[in-house]
Amino acid sequence: THQWRGIIEEYRDRLPVTDTTPVVTLREGGTPLVPAQVLSERTGCEVHLKVEGANPTGSFKDRGMTMAITRAKEEGAQAVICASTGNTSASAAAYAVRAGMVCAVLVPQGKIALGKMGQALVHGAKILQVDGNFDDCLTLARGLSENYPVALVNSVNPVRIEGQKTAAFEIVDMLGDAPDIHVLPVGNAGNITAYWKGYGEYAADGLSTHRPRMWGFQASGSAPLVRGEVVKDPSTIATAIRIGNPASWDFAIAARDESGGFIDEVTDREILRAYRLLAAQEGVFVEPASAASVAGLLKAAEQGKVDPGQRIVCTVTGNGLKDPDWAVAGAPQPVTVPVDAAAAAERLGLA
Ligand code: F0G
Repeated sequence: THQWRGIIEEYRDRLPVTDTTPVVTLREGGTPLVPAQVLSERTGCEVHLKVEGANPTGSFKDRGMTMAITRAKEEGAQAVICASTGNTSASAAAYAVRAGMVCAVLVPQGKIALGKMGQALVHGAKILQVDGNFDDCLTLARGLSENYPVALVNSVNPVRIEGQKTAAFEIVDMLGDAPDIHVLPVGNAGNITAYWKGYGEYAADGLSTHRPRMWGFQASGSAPLVRGEVVKDPSTIATAIRIGNPASWDFAIAARDESGGFIDEVTDREILRAYRLLAAQEGVFVEPASAASVAGLLKAAEQGKVDPGQRIVCTVTGNGLKDPDWAVAGAPQPVTVPVDAAAAAERLGLA
């Protein structure tokens, strides 16, 4: 009887909806905040993981999408469109089904994880693979939404940010106050913008005593905010954050500077190391882009930037099942045994 109702019902008074707004939800949000034992030991801090892969379509995008599709429905839209590195398209496709809308998605050709493509397909989205990168897809999607009857549900749509800010509310509600530091991966920079807004609203209303420092991490091959200039041909194995010209650039810089935080980069090697550590030592399977937050925390700790005793939350943004190639790659092939207990026991090192 006490199922989580989804972010719009749980935080209705803090979101742009009215009593007559037709809420489109898959009961997103309410995700686990998991104490990270190994990361806490390594940093001397109290580290928690906000496991956003536990959302209905497997990423934090559902928080923004319930708002974007709800408002599109309220405004009478019959079709929605988004550019995506994969997760936004999976989420838009699912929520469009709930709303009875057509969903069009533009993805960079050959650069989206198979699980995400499968989601968009099975939910019946109209998919175009664009011969370009995410930034090209977003330009195209914006142009189409301006000239044709189709609503844009990328995070340049401000109601997406409204929905995503609820993750910060949940963290403060759980911990009783804001953390000292919040760490997250940065691609198009919508999420860092949303968290900063959420923390700000709670602090302004006296629901927390302070706001955290915001630490954002981009992949080295796709780090325009670190370089201070657009990256024309972004590259990284973390395809979700393979973005060279973030739409929420100025908001991300504001979150960094107002919070006294920083935005740095992590290499693909560091991302994969954190990806394996999370799975093998914390029991949390995330997609590579999500591991950029943890890779960044470990890098900062190695650089002596992490004072012990602090409370730190790392958002891990997407589920590992979306992109399992990296889990399988380089791992030993399981051995085959006959239906024989002695043989199995021997292979397992039990005998
Ligand atoms: N982590 C994952 C798993 C993502 O899918 C994204 C963005 C990010 C982090 C970065 O968040 O863009 O708000 O800074 N994915 C978008 C998409 C671009 O199309 O699914 P951001």
